Parts: sequence; structure tokens; C-alpha cells
Amino acid sequence: MNSFENNSSRYIGNDLIRFLGNDVLSAAPEKEPERQHYFIAQLKALGNPGASDAQDQSHDADVKPLTAAVVTFGCQMNARDSEKLTGILEEAGYEMTDDEENADFVIFNTCTVRENANEHLYGRLGRLKNMKKSHPERIIAVCGCMMQESDEVAKLRQKYAYVDLIFGTHNLYKFPELLFMLHRKRLGMVDSLEAVHAGNAVLTDSSADHERYEKLLRYGGNTGTQKDLEKLYRKPVVSVWQDSGDIVEDLPQQRKFPFKQGINIMFGCNNFCSYCIVPYVRGREKSRTPGEILEEIRRAAGEGVKEIMLLGQNVNSYRGISSEESVFMSFPELLQKVDDLAEETGIERIRFMTSHPKDLSDELIEVMAKSKHVCHQFHLPLQSGSSRILKRMNRHYDKERFLDRAAHLREAMPDIVITTDIIVGFPGESEEDFLETLDVVEKVRFDAAFTFIYSKREGTPAASFDYQVDEADVKDRFDRLLELQNRIAAESLERFRGETLPVLFEDVSEYDPMMITGKLENGTTVHVAAEPEDQQRLIGTVRQVRLEESHGFYYTGSLV
Ligand code: SAH
Ligand code: SF4
Ligand code: F3S
Repeated sequence: MNSFENNSSRYIGNDLIRFLGNDVLSAAPEKEPERQHYFIAQLKALGNPGASDAQDQSHDADVKPLTAAVVTFGCQMNARDSEKLTGILEEAGYEMTDDEENADFVIFNTCTVRENANEHLYGRLGRLKNMKKSHPERIIAVCGCMMQESDEVAKLRQKYAYVDLIFGTHNLYKFPELLFMLHRKRLGMVDSLEAVHAGNAVLTDSSADHERYEKLLRYGGNTGTQKDLEKLYRKPVVSVWQDSGDIVEDLPQQRKFPFKQGINIMFGCNNFCSYCIVPYVRGREKSRTPGEILEEIRRAAGEGVKEIMLLGQNVNSYRGISSEESVFMSFPELLQKVDDLAEETGIERIRFMTSHPKDLSDELIEVMAKSKHVCHQFHLPLQSGSSRILKRMNRHYDKERFLDRAAHLREAMPDIVITTDIIVGFPGESEEDFLETLDVVEKVRFDAAFTFIYSKREGTPAASFDYQVDEADVKDRFDRLLELQNRIAAESLERFRGETLPVLFEDVSEYDPMMITGKLENGTTVHVAAEPEDQQRLIGTVRQVRLEESHGFYYTGSLV
């Protein structure tokens, strides 16, 4: 027995060959998702050699589980994707942590909708540089929308060369396989190069932390020199697809909250609003089948989920093929089926986002108004109140049509909460255009608005439009919009004061450990005082709350 085998290390040469060797790779099933489940099992065995082979005394039974942090930027789609990443990591034996600076594995799920989303990532990565220097065996991965842009991938490879693994939105389901390939690369297995368009090798550094890799390298009998390998080790595994193939179902997932879940009903976007990068990074629209969606909801209900959010960039253009009749199902039809299923399975609340105003039909409003469980909450992005600008944005509706849709929603459901997104400073936006936006805000009286300063996205049509608006004007308009909207939001919130309404409690308040936070059916946040010993019992349940005071964006109240 050599000294290496005496060493109590998680990774022991035999294991690595056993768990990462060519035989293991070639035995992987071709079919998905079986193939990914296979790699998850291999990763688990690799991270946990003792657990997979209790007889083998060369393993250290006390090896702590590896830790992993999933950091999410961007929208609900990304949040949902991160639940899948988390599910995969947990099943592979990782223990989840929020401490990205000390985790064995960190993955950033990125957004690129506005420039500041990108800056966010670079800031966070920059902070990990020193950690990576002292602990090169730790893994940093980056995935998500930003990785669909080749310039950003090039920048990462050049300036953030310590990132180990890069993949995109279309091959997220391949994550287990890519992580497996990264481990092979570190072992110096050259064939993984072809599989994932990347280099491979093993780390060699003199520090004690890296010693085990050096030993592994010798043990594995790699053919390269130390120097070659060192170079290769530092190359990331990169795998970004230009478009998605089939939708791969049935991957593990771990819900952030046990009582609520996002359900993808479609992926991608075909609308090509002229400012927006999403269609380029998420690909063409693809609807899941009603059967798969309803089955996922049924399963979630069986696991205690009380609230679901149907997700898509434009749910109103959902067109799912229902297998038994081989006809297309529309979103209102799907929503009706989901409502029936909710009634049957005990799901209390159904939400959906996002709706494009151009496709918001009377039929949808009718289904919503009649439904038992669809929440009276509607996110209807305005973007601009100026018909001229809306045309340049390629939104396919004008100011009148938007006002008509909002009025119709309020008529059908007087208690509805309507929220929106607004962009300020779109190229060519004049003061008059902006006043039209303020006019719509006054007329519709949105309960909340997410306001954004226009951000130029390379590759979108608007990036080449003339007349980018002066920065000082944009700032001034943004402040005026915010002031108006804040006033309206506060006034509009007042209308529920004094009522007693059901609240689904979600968490202990971030601001006060003696309070818990929940949501009204219409999406409004409510804080209620609760003794620490009662909090866990209340979280995840729906309780009647008297709304006592409104505070601009949220209520405080008490349990009745
Ligand atoms: N599919 C959704 C929006 C997804 S992006 C929809 O159509 O409403 C979320 C929001 O980001 C958009 O509604 C828009 O207001 C904003 N946004 C998108 N691209 C932007 C850009 N280039 N600059 C500023 N805001 C932008
Ligand atoms: Fe972007 Fe428009 Fe698609 Fe929404 S509908 S994701 S704003 S292109
Ligand atoms: Fe961002 Fe991608 Fe969503 S770009 S907004 S995370 S679809």
C-alpha cells in the first residue's frame, strides 16, 4: 500500500477511475432523461465513495458531504431552472448552502435582460477570484441566459478564466453530464474533449490542498506532462447550444418553498420586441403538452403544494398539442383544465405570468372571472403608453387597446390587482411620448409597476435605432414616473384596509424575526406578528387575516 492510499481523502485514485473511467462513460444510456439520471448516480458515488461501497476500508467513512450554492439572477424562468439545478445537486449528494464563498461548488444562473444584470455577475465572480486561488479544486459554474451570448462567454474565458464550467439555457438538462465531464477533464481524460468541446486534465499546484490531485494524476498514469496538464486543468468545460432540441421532462427538482411551485407551460419567445434580448437567448417558443403540465401539477399537489404559477414569456400564445385529440389547446382552455384539477387536488391558488397585452382575449378574462382558484392578479406589461413608441417597440398594440384590456379586466373582476412593466428612455422617446405613459399610469392605476431604464442590448433591432435619449432626461422621467406610481400604489392599496382576507404564509419576515410574511390572493404582501414557536406551524398554510394598516406596498395585520 503506498502512502497515497493511506491518506484519508474523499477522492481516491481507484474510485476516480471507477466512477469516471471510460467504461463508466460508455455504459451511459443514450435516452434522456435516463442518461442524466445515470450521471447523477455517478456523481453521487464520486462525491461519496464510502456510501457506495461500505465494504471497502480504504474509504473514509467520515467524509463530509460536498456543499453547493446556486445563485440566481433574473426572472421566474430562471428561478424555476434553479430549482432543477438544486434538485440535481441534492440528488448527486451535495448539501446546499447560501455561502458561495466557501462552497465546494457554486453555480451562477445568469440573466442578461439589462446591462446591470451582466455587471451583477461580474461583480460576484470577481469576489470569488481569491477563493479560487487558494482552493482551485472548488468548482465555479456559470449558466443561463447570459451564456447564450458568445461575447460574454469569450469575456469569461479571457478575464475570468477561473470559471470551470459554462453552459446555456438550451442544455440545462445536461448539467449532470457536464459536471461529470468536468471531473473527467480534471483527471486528464482526453476523450471528454470531444463530448463537451472542452479541454481536460488535472490540477498541479504545490499547496497542500492540491496535493491529492497530483497524486491522483500519477496514480491514474496520465500521459501528459505536469505543465500540459496544468494548462488543460485551467480550461473550462464549455457547452452552449444555439437552440433547444426536445423538451426533456422528469429531472429532479427541489422547490425553494415546499408549498408553491412554478410550472413551465412554455419555453422561449417569438415576439421579438425590438428592445428585448430574451428571444435570442431563450430561443423559439415551445409549448409543453397539456398532459405533461397537468401531470406535473397533480404530482406537486400530492407533495403538498398549495400554489402554482404557470410560467411563460407570453402565456397567452400557449398552444399545446393535447395528445388524445391531437388538436391545439389555447391558454384559456388550459387554465380551465388547471382550475378543475386544482379543485380536485387541493391546490388553492393558481397564478400565471407573463401575459402579452396583444393576445389577451375576452375568453381568458371570462375563464379567470368564473374560475374557483385562479387569483385575481394580472401582470400586464405596458412598456410605453405612447402608440408611436409601442410601434417602434414592435408590441402590436396601441394605447387604446391597452386601456381597453385593463378596463375589461377591472370590469370582470372589480377586486383585481393589475401590475405592469414600464421602460423609460426607449430610443426616440420624446417628452410627449413620456406624458402618454404617465397618462396610462393615471388611468389604469396599476397596483405596482416595475420600472426600467432602457438598456441597449447588442443584437436587438433597437440597439441600432437613432436618437438614444439624453441621460439626464431619462433620469428625470424615471423619477417622475416613480413618484406618480408610488402615490397611486399607496392609494390603491388602501382599498382593502379593514377587510379580512385569506393569506398564504411564506416565510419569517426578513426585517423582523417576530413577524411572518405572506401573500393575499391578489399578490399583495402582508406581515403579521407571530411568536417564534408558532411560526413554523403557520408557514405554508392559508389563514384569515384582518388587514389593519397599509404601508405603501404592503399591509400589516393580525390573525383572526
Ligand atoms: N415576456 C415578458 C417580459 C420579460 S423581460 C413580457 O413581454 O412582458 C421583463 C421586463 O424587462 C420587460 O417587461 C421589460 O419591461 C424589461 N426589459 C426587457 N428588455 C429591456 C431593455 N432592453 N431595457 C430595459 N428594460 C427591458
Ligand atoms: Fe421580450 Fe417581448 Fe418576448 Fe417579453 S414578449 S420576452 S418583452 S420579446
Ligand atoms: Fe433574464 Fe433570461 Fe429571464 S434574460 S429576464 S433570466 S429569460
